[in-house]
Amino acid sequence: MVDIHSFLTEYKKRVDERLVAFISALDITEKLKESMLYSIKAGGKRLRPILLIAVTEACGGAFDKAMAPGLSLEMLHTYSLIHDDLPAMDDDDLRRGLPTNHKRYGEATAILAGDALLTLAFQCLAEAPGLNDEQKIALVGKLARAAGPEGMVGGQMDDIDAEGKTLDIRALEHIHLRKTGRLLEYAVEAGAIIAEADADVRRKLAAFARHLGIAFQIKDDLLDIEGEEAVIGKRVGGDAERHKNTYPGLLTVEGAKRELERHYQSALAALEAANVSSDVLAALTRYIIIRER
Ligand code: IPE
Ligand code: IPE
Ligand code: MG
Ligand code: MG
Ligand code: MG
Repeated sequence: MVDIHSFLTEYKKRVDERLVAFISALDITEKLKESMLYSIKAGGKRLRPILLIAVTEACGGAFDKAMAPGLSLEMLHTYSLIHDDLPAMDDDDLRRGLPTNHKRYGEATAILAGDALLTLAFQCLAEAPGLNDEQKIALVGKLARAAGPEGMVGGQMDDIDAEGKTLDIRALEHIHLRKTGRLLEYAVEAGAIIAEADADVRRKLAAFARHLGIAFQIKDDLLDIEGEEAVIGKRVGGDAERHKNTYPGLLTVEGAKRELERHYQSALAALEAANVSSDVLAALTRYIIIRER
């Protein structure tokens, strides 16, 4: 049995140390650094880098090679949160248990801190130690696709655009797959590339990641209803207030939980089919659907 809580604590500690060290070492204007470090140090589960590293290890790859790509992904994710919270977007005041970046530093600095983390993510990835040029080019291209208009940014656009309208479940799934799923899919694919997994394993892990990604956002939607503000570190009830399209909104809480369970089971089946050393990944998947934050 994997003790997933010890695993998460240990890996989060290693990611946190390297992340703060990387940004602290930059010779940049102080206000920008402070604002970037504010959102980074606020915490967060670090699930994307941890997943990337765990997939690398499950496919027989080295932890050290996965660290810089993991940091890069967390920087990009943190940018997406800073911008997601802006008044023109979800207009949230609380993130990772602290006032949102724009509440603390003002909108201009928050926008620039986000831009800086997005750009720095690609710098960190392009300079990742231990990877060959072919791997780095593949990762840079795949991260750009996952984060950009075909992926997260496109999903965010449609999410904002759908406020106040009622989508059908297929349209909502298409949003969730992009706004949240694509970065998680990238985490899994990147791990497989770093470990040089073969094409068949990569295909099966891609199916695993697709279900994991959608499950992650269904759980996020449920926590916006059933979570506790002090635990999740962000406002509860904002989705309904802003007339967002969510799984519980379209399917009821019970219906969303059934979809969550269905994607969880499909993720596990795909993981088993991939035939990698899957104990940690299975435990991580379970954590994602039962998490309270
Ligand atoms: C929140 O992501 C935003 C979504 C994509 C749903 P996380 O739940 O991973 O947030 P942190 O990184 O732990 O703060
Ligand atoms: C947005 O989803 C995911 C991102 C791309 C940042 P949400 O808007 O539901 O994320 P939270 O609930 O604010 O973390
Ligand atoms: Mg949002
Ligand atoms: Mg939001
Ligand atoms: Mg949410």
